[in-house]
Amino acid sequence: SGPELAALVAGGAVDVRDFPKPGIVFKDLMPFFGDGPRFRRVVDGIVAHYGAGSFDVVAGVEARGFVVAAAIAYATGVGVVPVRKAGKLPRPGFSASYALEYGEATLEVSEDAFVAGQRVLVVDDVLATGGTAAATMDLVERAGGVLTGFTVLMELAFLNGRERLSPRKVHALLTV
Ligand code: PRP
Repeated sequence: SGPELAALVAGGAVDVRDFPKPGIVFKDLMPFFGDGPRFRRVVDGIVAHYGAGSFDVVAGVEARGFVVAAAIAYATGVGVVPVRKAGKLPRPGFSASYALEYGEATLEVSEDAFVAGQRVLVVDDVLATGGTAAATMDLVERAGGVLTGFTVLMELAFLNGRERLSPRKVHALLTV
């Protein structure tokens, strides 16, 4: 159920004050990822929410989004596309810059990452300001993918990422 999945995420999250900068409370989900049964139930919950067969590929955002994306992809038998931080791709790609809760960043995806019309589920660990998600969805569409959903383990509601991404839908297992 929704509340059960939210509790599983909450139980694996640790608040870290003043990381990576003073004034930021970082949500560390490493204990969540490190707990096998917890991780598996939540991944299964995400798959159940969308339904296996409703997407053709999963795109995950570097770095913690990779972990979630690979698990969903494996569970459903689809491929995974890594959306990378700047300068990591060996071949030409699309690029999108965005403002982060702390600092600025650029994301890139390979030009041939998606087959035109492929249905793409975008995943990340945390939704904060929504800058990362907006840039990622932009990249997916520019690369020829069709967005079927965006899911995160945890949404920080006070940063209004959901509004920024509107009318695109956000599925969050836990909203704080
Ligand atoms: C974090 C998080 C999201 C993003 C959310 O990534 O994993 O990708 O910030 O922030 P936003 O909604 O304000 O854009 P981070 O940049 O810390 O990268 P990492 O996973 O490589 O540590």
